[in-house]
Amino acid sequence: MLHSVGIVGTGSYVPEKVLTNADLEKMVDTNDEWIVSRTGIKERHIADPETPVSELCYQAALKALEDAKVAPEDVDLIIIPTVTADYLFPSTAGLVADRLGAKNAAAFDLSAGCTGFLYGITTGAQFVSTGMYRTVLVIGAETLSKILNWEDRSTCVLFGDGAGAAVLQPVEEGYGFLGFELGADGSGGHLLTCLGGGSKNPASIESVQNKLHTIRMAGSEVFKFAVRIMGDASFKVLEKAGLKKEDIDLFIPHQANLRIIDSAVKRLGIDPEKVVVNLDRYGNTSSASIPLALDEASRGGRLKYGDNLLMVGFGAGLAWGATVLRWAKR
Ligand code: COA
Repeated sequence: MLHSVGIVGTGSYVPEKVLTNADLEKMVDTNDEWIVSRTGIKERHIADPETPVSELCYQAALKALEDAKVAPEDVDLIIIPTVTADYLFPSTAGLVADRLGAKNAAAFDLSAGCTGFLYGITTGAQFVSTGMYRTVLVIGAETLSKILNWEDRSTCVLFGDGAGAAVLQPVEEGYGFLGFELGADGSGGHLLTCLGGGSKNPASIESVQNKLHTIRMAGSEVFKFAVRIMGDASFKVLEKAGLKKEDIDLFIPHQANLRIIDSAVKRLGIDPEKVVVNLDRYGNTSSASIPLALDEASRGGRLKYGDNLLMVGFGAGLAWGATVLRWAKR
């Protein structure tokens, strides 16, 4: 990297309303025992019908900017990874920039499914590294509840709503991002989809009747991919960073399924005490999952100056990503 770049502030936000497994038992043919034993999820937060994802972004961004002690007008770029933008266009990033008063910021959304936050910080870091921008705000946010088929028990129990934000700035040499790994395999794209509303299946009475605007997933195929790629991507990024698994002080995996996390932890040989898990309370919040966990870890005192942090994710695309950074926040 030309300039060292790190995360200098974090923030997160979830809607107030909690949907428990017991609530879901009344909606579809499922039960708490199945959901907990197969996924580790106990409850998730759900946005009200009138709350768009930009509201979640705004709340998380306010906290991240405050944490980083950055004024909105000093933000140079806002990137919002999301698959549940307010609209097809204008971008949610533009709407959030306006609401924050980030008058000097460029802004765009980014589509990389549940790997969105890792794609977002990797992209944002390049702008800071080259010196083109000094301050980049990345907000991973989703209102997946709005694109779920609430009659499909194989998907509706898995996901939740939320937002997590990170502020990127130059940091002292030897700190911040030490390595990035990104990948995508479109041949598996059909395994996790939301097919309606785009140019292939524009919104129509038929597309709505056929529930094309909701998430469909081949769960066990995605599961196998996830287990393989979590380990592969982590080993690759550690090698790029010149670190060994023993050097990792904290591990933040994408929060999709506890069994996927456990198998990655086992394969990597990381001490389970060093793993951040919060999916029991939030479910899978897609591109919000890693920044939400990161914010909780940072505010909870689990990250100290100089700690090596590994983050890894996977999802629709099929895409994956991993990064290692040395924590530069005091
Ligand atoms: N409640 C009760 N039973 C359910 C259920 C639910 N909510 N959802 C599915 N089942 C049933 C299935 O119908 C199936 O029944 P059958 O054997 O009679 O056909 C049975 O449970 C087993 O289903 P299966 O899909 O094999 O379970 P699984 O152990 O693979 O777990 C997932 C399903 C979805 C939890 C798991 O595959 C998974 O987590 N995949 C990865 C998903 C993911 O991470 N996606 C996001 C990527 S970012």
